[in-house]
Amino acid sequence: MPYYRVTGEIPRKRHVRFRRPDGGLYAEELMGEEGFSSDSSLLYHAHLPTAIVKSEGLADAAADAGIVPNHPLLPRHFRTSDLPKGGDLVLGRQLLMANDDVRISFAAADAASGLYRNSTGDEAIYLRTGSVMFESVYGRIEAGAGDYVVVPRGTIHRWIPSAGGNGAAAPPAEALVIEARGHIRPPRRYLSQYGQFLEHAPYSERDLRCPDGPLIAEGGDVPVIVRNRGGLTRLTYANHPFDVVGWDGCLYPYAFNIADFEPIVKRTHAPPPVHQTFEGPNFVICSFCPRPLDFDTDAVPVPYNHHNVDSDEMMFYVAGDYTARKGSGVGIGSITLHPSGFTHGPQPGAVEAAIRGLDEGRATTDETAVMIDTFRPLLLGPAGQRTEDPEYAWSWGRAASG
Ligand SMILES: [Fe+2]
Repeated sequence: MPYYRVTGEIPRKRHVRFRRPDGGLYAEELMGEEGFSSDSSLLYHAHLPTAIVKSEGLADAAADAGIVPNHPLLPRHFRTSDLPKGGDLVLGRQLLMANDDVRISFAAADAASGLYRNSTGDEAIYLRTGSVMFESVYGRIEAGAGDYVVVPRGTIHRWIPSAGGNGAAAPPAEALVIEARGHIRPPRRYLSQYGQFLEHAPYSERDLRCPDGPLIAEGGDVPVIVRNRGGLTRLTYANHPFDVVGWDGCLYPYAFNIADFEPIVKRTHAPPPVHQTFEGPNFVICSFCPRPLDFDTDAVPVPYNHHNVDSDEMMFYVAGDYTARKGSGVGIGSITLHPSGFTHGPQPGAVEAAIRGLDEGRATTDETAVMIDTFRPLLLGPAGQRTEDPEYAWSWGRAASG
């Protein structure tokens, strides 16, 4: 994150003596990216953040077993509504697609996760439904439907789904989990050379919700599940990692709600880069939001057929009515994969229907979707294969030949 924040108590200068009320020293922890040549934050712990007392290797249920190439090449449609509900937002992830840059999973969490640190890369969790409390060494963020929560690599955190009214169990929080093998950031072109959001960007600093204060937790022998490139390990810490009294810097988790994305519209159809929200290593995340329709009197207000020759396109249909996919079986909770090597576009009849709608006075679209475009091909994970709609690939051709 490019802009500076202070939370809790910190000393006037960096790396000077900062004492607890009992006279002992607070322990500094500098979390820094790219060999401390990029963003960082300096945290002050009540106890040593280095004090571990046990390390146990864990079996990795989310390992790459069961991942297959998209071969023979096909456009795909998966129904996340058919996937099992339950579990937590860390160990309950069901892998939909993956490549060497990003792993994309679905979770429908109804239980609190344990403490977790992903040291392989940043994560962005998009919540489609439900509400959760995100707790971390940086503090707490309340997140709800439509929020992206971006978690920097190495942040110890946990997810606690909110209870329903009167303490009743809440419906599961459904989430798309995006795990990068690197950092997830606002697109470079939205920022000044020093990192401030520019006026043309579709969101700004005011739209980002950051941890609201340090969590000061006590307790000993606290397990933390750590994912690194060697797999999963349970490290037991002598003291609770949420013992931070203050921090400052430019690296921290934050939430951004898709409804705070300001859509950019044109007189005729605007291309996908106007929807870009974040960039990761060899992939982008885009938000398609309710917006005015293209407003030229001759406009065709749905996408043209297109071949994104360098990318695979994954689309998660979140809410509203997606005109371009009418008649294909795609609905809320669906995910489509339109890979490089396949030209895709609106379903048969959708273009005429959209033109008719515009001519009859329809001026807006209520569609909401999250798209991930990857430069490397996406392989299919077990959860994707399990929920595939085998008819989708033929939904254009059947109409043309019938
Ligand atoms: Fe597309």
